[in-house]
Amino acid sequence: MKALVTGGAGFIGANICEYLLKQNFKVICLDDFLKGSEKNIQGMDLEFIKGSVVDERLIKSLNGKGIDVIFHEAAITDTTVTDDNLMLQVNVEGFKYILNLARAENCPVVYASSAAVYGDGFVPMKESQKPNPLNIYGVSKLKMDEISPIFSRETGLKVVGLRYFNVYGPKEDFKASAMSMIRQLGFQMLKGNAPRVFKWGEQERDFIYVKDVVTANIKAFEAEKSCIVNVGTGKRTSFNRIIEILNNNLNTDFKPDYFDNPYNFYQNHTQADPTLAQKSLGFKAGFSIEEGIKDYVLALTRS
Ligand SMILES: NC(=O)c1ccc[n+]([C@@H]2O[C@H](COP(=O)([O-])OP(=O)(O)OC[C@H]3O[C@@H](n4cnc5c(N)ncnc54)[C@H](O)[C@@H]3O)[C@@H](O)[C@H]2O)c1
Repeated sequence: MKALVTGGAGFIGANICEYLLKQNFKVICLDDFLKGSEKNIQGMDLEFIKGSVVDERLIKSLNGKGIDVIFHEAAITDTTVTDDNLMLQVNVEGFKYILNLARAENCPVVYASSAAVYGDGFVPMKESQKPNPLNIYGVSKLKMDEISPIFSRETGLKVVGLRYFNVYGPKEDFKASAMSMIRQLGFQMLKGNAPRVFKWGEQERDFIYVKDVVTANIKAFEAEKSCIVNVGTGKRTSFNRIIEILNNNLNTDFKPDYFDNPYNFYQNHTQADPTLAQKSLGFKAGFSIEEGIKDYVLALTRS
């Protein structure tokens, strides 16, 4: 089996590459290093192509490579980017080029959507609820979710969209200020500083461990039909509770340092309704927040 992983040097993409190689897939990793890190794929026996998903000629040239599945992770992932044209060019037009490649290669596509399509909507967030993206990043992911069912109806090819919630885990360090809150708080605490959170640390997120996200991608590849589903745990955890769990794992006793939230667009709560993912893909998160953080801290201390 041969897989193309776009954005394969990024956080989630590199975890997918690593897993596929262990399963004896041949892996083509495409990344333009807008964000991704060479270190993330160091030592991996894969074909690396440095290039952009918006380079139509390059994407067309991959036709004939015998690709059996595309895992599309490449995107502008910085949710604070306000250049609408750039965001739509990379996230939406790039996706269209990837779909055209899938048509030419006659292969399924699993792509990264996002909980950002729900904005500050009702929780638990259901795929059937009205989307309400709060920024151009969320809009771009919603546009991808609008395009994919049309494409799969037209071509008969399977396209599965995964609305990831807040992903954390190994290989995210290069993201700096865009690292998960769990890594950012852990980073501060490991440096001996009090963890800084917006007042009063009661914001909640459905944090999902990257190993579960990899599993969801594999289940999506194996699924019978096209669909768009949430990839979350179905539980939400406050930043205050994350600090408690980190304190337990790091043997520390830090108190949060609260400060004012400067953003006027902000998701106060995210929580997936995981029912459809379970029904359509047979996917259920395996790691509780306590288990995920424990595994992550162990991985960090080993590296
Ligand atoms: N991390 C999360 O919590 C989260 C949540 C929801 C959705 N997502 C989505 O999951 C996917 C992966 O996210 P991530 O956290 O691994 O982000 P990331 O920034 O670590 O990875 C994205 C990768 O795409 C590459 N890239 C960007 N533009 C490109 C282009 N034009 N051509 C080729 N490569 C390009 C970057 O260099 C990077 O390696 C993204 O589509 C993101 O929107 C992530």
